[in-house]
Amino acid sequence: MSRPRVLSGVQPTGALHLGNWLGAIRNWVDLQETHDTFVCVVDLHAITVPHDPSRLAEDTRSTAALYLACGIDPKRCSVFVQSQVAAHSELCWLLNCVTPLNWLERMIQFKEKAVKQGDNVSVGLLDYPVLMAADILLYDADLVPVGEDQKQHLELARDIAQQRINARFRGKDTPVLKVPKPLILKEGARVMSLTDGRSKMSKSDPNEGSRITLLDPPELITKKIKRAKTDPERGLEFGNPDRPETDNLLGLYAILSGKGRQQAATECAEMGWGQFKPLLAEATVSALEPIQARYRELMQDPTELDQVLRTGREKAETVANDTLERVRDALGFARPA
Ligand code: AMP
Ligand code: TRP
Repeated sequence: MSRPRVLSGVQPTGALHLGNWLGAIRNWVDLQETHDTFVCVVDLHAITVPHDPSRLAEDTRSTAALYLACGIDPKRCSVFVQSQVAAHSELCWLLNCVTPLNWLERMIQFKEKAVKQGDNVSVGLLDYPVLMAADILLYDADLVPVGEDQKQHLELARDIAQQRINARFRGKDTPVLKVPKPLILKEGARVMSLTDGRSKMSKSDPNEGSRITLLDPPELITKKIKRAKTDPERGLEFGNPDRPETDNLLGLYAILSGKGRQQAATECAEMGWGQFKPLLAEATVSALEPIQARYRELMQDPTELDQVLRTGREKAETVANDTLERVRDALGFARPA
């Protein structure tokens, strides 16, 4: 029996932060042990808002290097660049033509991002979730590990597969597309901003002090944690709705120290901030240190990364082209002579 399939990806926009690692990449690393895993750098998604062409290629490679540095093992997992597998764009088009416009107009992330773009909203920004559905459906993914913010996009991918393709078109093997399930693990699924415990840590927050990136040097990590927003109460606890910053920082400590929620809560129940913050800084620095060391190694010698991305692309192409052909057949396209 073949192993269940996993697909996921992160955009190469800005530096990856603790939310990307804890909410997404860390789960991929666990899944590669038991699943057939594909992870891509979704560079086509990165151009849905204005981007800098002089940085795109470099950011794409650096994101891929971070996947490996975080523990993605190219022997078990195919790592590739989305734009290098043409089937993503092509399936996106086919899905575009069966997806109702109003499904896209109600996407929360689109509405949020569109506001930020003012009158410069591209068709691509609206279409972003259909491209994401194509990414997932091409690989017959069983599971898609993502952070909480992607739940609505996953539901859209399921609806497109089920209601718009499988219910309307017959394949040689029916159903045409596999309907994927999201995998949103509770712990780490929503890492919040260091400057506001009610909004999520995000690459696009103009305040860099709001996030810790995976490549921040130790002094900067310590400084950001020192300045992180807290509240006047003493003692840390989980789940108090009036203390979102406390919940977030204690949650980060529980994961990054490896102690888990219960032990962290007991240890910090009576602690003041002056005692807790250095502990959190230390745990963060030690958790990121091996990732940073491996990242530097990978970026110094491009041959290893090139090889990983080439092999990953070849494997991805084989699977993706197969699915694309299935969809083309189901939709009734003429086969090339
Ligand atoms: P993005 O940075 O939007 O490309 O997101 C890449 C992955 O990281 C997705 O699976 C997101 O759900 C996840 N992610 C982004 N921000 C956070 C956060 N603050 N907490 C948890 N997961 C996140
Ligand atoms: N939209 C996702 C995000 O910003 C990134 C993404 C694109 C993705 N395609 C995907 C995630 C396919 C999982 C599967 O987080």
